[in-house]
Amino acid sequence: MTLSVPRHFRLLLDENEIARRVSELGREISADYEGKELHIICVLKGGVYFLADLVRELTLPVTFDFLSVSSYRGTESSGVVRFTKDLDEDIESRHVLVIEDIIDTGLTLHYIERNLKTRKVASLALASFLDRPHRRKVDLELDYVGFVIPDHYVVGYGLDFEHKYRQFKDIYAIN
Ligand code: IMP
Repeated sequence: MTLSVPRHFRLLLDENEIARRVSELGREISADYEGKELHIICVLKGGVYFLADLVRELTLPVTFDFLSVSSYRGTESSGVVRFTKDLDEDIESRHVLVIEDIIDTGLTLHYIERNLKTRKVASLALASFLDRPHRRKVDLELDYVGFVIPDHYVVGYGLDFEHKYRQFKDIYAIN
């Protein structure tokens, strides 16, 4: 038995496509950081599935940590983002890769990037499994993107709708 998919959800990316793309990204990141140690920072909560799959495709020594930020949703015009869980470990002099589930306006990752840059990292790169550029409000240079998707709200593979449906192995667009 599995959780049934609501009728208004439309399949966007199935688990095989997702696995193939994560494996490609793993190869690319492993090549880019060859000879280095990589410290991955996963943005909670949506990024955890991508993190778990990605690190197992890397051929590098890798460590990871988590951070959490408040959602600006509801106060979107202000663009206010705030850390609700900071990192456990110091990142000074480390090669840091931040991973997110999806970039929409870009405000969240932009805020995280600015904050982490002040911590004297050796390098800072940004990865997002999904990129939906239609409502972008800030310039963001993403180093690694899984898929660029059309302008629909999406769920599954860590992404939620009203805190639910994160556990779907496929990604669905909600009409
Ligand atoms: P941004 O700050 O507008 O780029 O929003 C990024 C965050 O909003 C993501 O990390 C998600 O937590 C959430 N989000 C944005 N779009 C979606 C979506 O389509 N489904 C689920 N969560 C989303």
